[in-house]
Amino acid sequence: MCLDGHADILCDMETHIPTRREAFELLCRYNSNESLIKHAFAVEAVMRYMARKQGEDEEMWGVIGLVHDLDYERFPEQHCRKSLELLRESGWPEEYIRAVVSHGWGICSDVEPVSVLEKTLYAIDELTGLVTTSALVRPSKSVLDLEPSSVKKKWKDRRFAAGVNREVIEKGARLLGTDLTQLIADTIQGMRTVAREIGLEDART
Ligand SMILES: [Fe+2]
Ligand SMILES: [Fe+2]
Repeated sequence: MCLDGHADILCDMETHIPTRREAFELLCRYNSNESLIKHAFAVEAVMRYMARKQGEDEEMWGVIGLVHDLDYERFPEQHCRKSLELLRESGWPEEYIRAVVSHGWGICSDVEPVSVLEKTLYAIDELTGLVTTSALVRPSKSVLDLEPSSVKKKWKDRRFAAGVNREVIEKGARLLGTDLTQLIADTIQGMRTVAREIGLEDART
């Protein structure tokens, strides 16, 4: 129970459950780049898919996925650190902030992914990039007819989507105790749910 002003503020922060709308408004306040917004939608969709599959809190997983790169367009040099600041200013719960910051573990943050949510975000973030590039080289330019085997083939060609850090994805799969093919299949399934929003519907139809 909150008995004084100070405690009221603390209680608000503890009980503040960020909504999808709030997360989207925050994303749009700091981002205008179309491909970054599509990336945010892709990561959100995969997080939601993974949460549903495991009976976890879909809204929480989705909202965290949506804002995970909040600071990247405006503050690339301070990636993850600036998000921590912006989310704290917005009164977001520490559990959400920690998850956002942990996706940059070993790259721009020293916060290790510990929860299943954090490990999942860490594992699928880069993978959504590889899935997107693999879809775009198909005749359909779509994720709807993309199979895990195609992504696995592209995985081995290090010049293909060279910017995608395959080591991070492998590390994420190990953290989750998941086989890479299953992780790719889940990521494709999640991205299919927002194929239109992320520009990966069949280009021929
Ligand atoms: Fe990031
Ligand atoms: Fe990302």
